[in-house]
Amino acid sequence: MNNFIAASIIAADFFSLENEYKKLNQTDIKWVHFDIMDGHFVPNITIGSCDLDAILKKTNIPIDIHFMVDNPDYIVPLFIKNYSNKKISNVSVHVESCQNIKKLSNIVRKNKISFGLAINPNTSINKIINNLKYIDLALVMTVKPGFAGQKIIQKCINKVKKLRNYFDKNNISIPIQVDGGIKLENISSLSDAGANIYVSGTGIFNTNNYIKTVNKMKKIVE
Ligand code: DX5
Ligand code: ZN
Repeated sequence: MNNFIAASIIAADFFSLENEYKKLNQTDIKWVHFDIMDGHFVPNITIGSCDLDAILKKTNIPIDIHFMVDNPDYIVPLFIKNYSNKKISNVSVHVESCQNIKKLSNIVRKNKISFGLAINPNTSINKIINNLKYIDLALVMTVKPGFAGQKIIQKCINKVKKLRNYFDKNNISIPIQVDGGIKLENISSLSDAGANIYVSGTGIFNTNNYIKTVNKMKKIVE
């Protein structure tokens, strides 16, 4: 599996998004991670279709959408309809709020977008293991979702390890994505745990040189 870095765009400078993208284009990130929060599932409201429209019109880095919403069964199909054939690689929803994972997975996959399932820090990895048939990516949150710039929760690294062990023992090749509090200083612990896709927000955008930061991260995880 090719491990890679994704940049979480909510940590960017939204007043200078064009400039942020110019800098991201020079790095080796493979996805821009797009956090949609609804103010219900998490205590924050972030970005949505206006931002996504603007970004998709002008940029080429594939998008990975992370829905932190109470009603993914309702909103994701509507979203997908508006964005079919665009540069969206993956859509992840949370197991804590998704009512019908099988049905939603079918809808997303039919649009040639991979379907990810996310678990909060207090949610068991069994929720992922029980749904392997329907998912293309397993997102293990390493902070409580809601805000960029939080500190990584150590016990979540153990969950990644356990999931990696299970996947290896059972020959499962679904990538494990990790998201929240990931920085150059701690990325090796997640790489040792067996993660594949590393989402970093402030860990990239709060550094002076995105190229150097991403290169150093890449060297550790590859
Ligand atoms: C948290 C989001 C993360 C977050 C990452 O709810 O899902 O994607 O923006 O930002 P950092 O890396 O700063 O924790
Ligand atoms: Zn996220």
